[in-house]
Amino acid sequence: MHPTSLSKYRPFPAVSLPDRTWPDQTLTHAPIWCSVDLRDGNQALPQPMSIDEKLEFFDLLVRVGFKQIEVGFPSAADTEFNFLRRLIDENRIPDDVTIQVLVQTREPLIRRTFEAIDGAKRAIVHIYNSTSPLQRRVTFSDASRESIKQIAIDGAALVKQLVPSIPRTEVVLQYSPESFSDTELDFALECCNAVIDIWQPTPEKKMIINLPDTVQWTTPNVHADMIEWMCRHLSRRDSLLVSLHTHNDRGTGVAATELGLMAGADRVEGTLFGNGERTGNLDIVTLALNLNSHGVATGLDFSDLQSIRTVYERVTRLNVPERQPYAGELVFTAFSGSHQDAIKKGLDRRSREVAADAATPWGVPYLTIDPQDIGRSYEAIIRINSQSGKGGVAYVLDREHGFDLPKSMHPQVGKRIYDLADELGRELSTDEIRDAFFEEFVNIATPLDLIDYELIHQTGERGLVQCKASILSGGEKKAIEGFGNGPINAFVHALEGAELKDFKVTDYRSHAVRGGSDASAAAYVQVQHDDGRLLWGAGVDPSIEMAGLKALVAAWNLLRA
Ligand code: KIV
Ligand code: ZN
Repeated sequence: MHPTSLSKYRPFPAVSLPDRTWPDQTLTHAPIWCSVDLRDGNQALPQPMSIDEKLEFFDLLVRVGFKQIEVGFPSAADTEFNFLRRLIDENRIPDDVTIQVLVQTREPLIRRTFEAIDGAKRAIVHIYNSTSPLQRRVTFSDASRESIKQIAIDGAALVKQLVPSIPRTEVVLQYSPESFSDTELDFALECCNAVIDIWQPTPEKKMIINLPDTVQWTTPNVHADMIEWMCRHLSRRDSLLVSLHTHNDRGTGVAATELGLMAGADRVEGTLFGNGERTGNLDIVTLALNLNSHGVATGLDFSDLQSIRTVYERVTRLNVPERQPYAGELVFTAFSGSHQDAIKKGLDRRSREVAADAATPWGVPYLTIDPQDIGRSYEAIIRINSQSGKGGVAYVLDREHGFDLPKSMHPQVGKRIYDLADELGRELSTDEIRDAFFEEFVNIATPLDLIDYELIHQTGERGLVQCKASILSGGEKKAIEGFGNGPINAFVHALEGAELKDFKVTDYRSHAVRGGSDASAAAYVQVQHDDGRLLWGAGVDPSIEMAGLKALVAAWNLLRA
């Protein structure tokens, strides 16, 4: 913002609550959840959901485990009304799920709302009116505090009066002083207490006081102070469920809700992935998984987050951003080399620890939860671009393709593959990484090629073998032979006999390739040239002996590359 614009804005007043207790609280249990996807979420969509889409979304919310679902604003539009009637008339609401309907505190709208919920087993009638000085001044043309409070009282009284008209339905009252976030606390309290006085809730038949962060004007700590202040001053606190409804204007919807819960709230309204007016509502997925990540059960099941996201994206026509906590495409992916190394070490160590003790607590650097717990896979964790480190390539070759490269080979392979990513200016797929590894290191056969070989195990001296090989060197076919204690050593001596030895073998490993369709073996040979250069070559072949020889030939050729 240009500095001259700043004169338009003012600091937001703090709450005076020197003995606040919320900073010392820890979240040890989940709140009561209420999804407002089908109301606040739906009303914010460029193209609202059709009735069929709402029905599908409702079923999804039930499957996830929501027991309270705000299904719409039935007095506002026929689609909303008809959707609710279908839910009720077609018996689509499970017995343990309570629907919630929103309505302004206006008589005709409240009456129409009662027609809409008639026959439901239980319904929360959610009445609201705007209470902030800004709304009173601008939207309600300088309405007085008294007249605004009276609107709330009249609304609550009408709901109470209409309850007997729908005897099949148990009605729970919810009141929201809308724009609570910038309402004077004493006035918000006055309105809430006036409604509580009318409704006369009891500990057995509680009502809900919802304190919306309609617009986030300030930091989450001030929100928490406001909630703690209200919880201390509301009358009949034991007969109330105090509910939070945060939006996300400052990007702190989740933080404000978490602090609001620490400040004493019992219940939370929000949406999947945070859809909602402007920057959205509280993202319930994030909040619930944050709780799960501290070992707190929530009653909500996001173990198959991908399929929830698929339905959500289809019916809302919105996209979950790539960096969205938990659900985003990239959130379990490390590009940076140091992160990749640490994750690989963490996962390897964890497999060993879990094998010894299945109850070992989660602890992998950079991963707050186990991606598998929400239906994500380890395979996607490490991706390779030019910023990646040596461990990342080794991880992909190991996990995805079954090649367990010796540690001292990682830098050589890593560098070549990152250089390739850099040349291409993009990320490499795991298949491209395997192909590049083969192209650059495996079975390299020019200028020297091993066409065939025979190993003759010598009787007499243990371990002594004779290697007879047919090679192509500089385009010329040659027969060579040598003795040694093992195939590699014998082949090295054969090369020596053909004056092709200007190196020594410094390391050798081999293993069966994990998960390969054919039963291949992989071998890695490190050689040191007479001029001091050290490098690795690799060989892959159905025969483990041939794989070793091919690895040596590859290393020989790489010394000349
Ligand atoms: O954000 C808000 O204040 C609302 C109310 C209607 C609860 O959505
Ligand atoms: Zn809202």
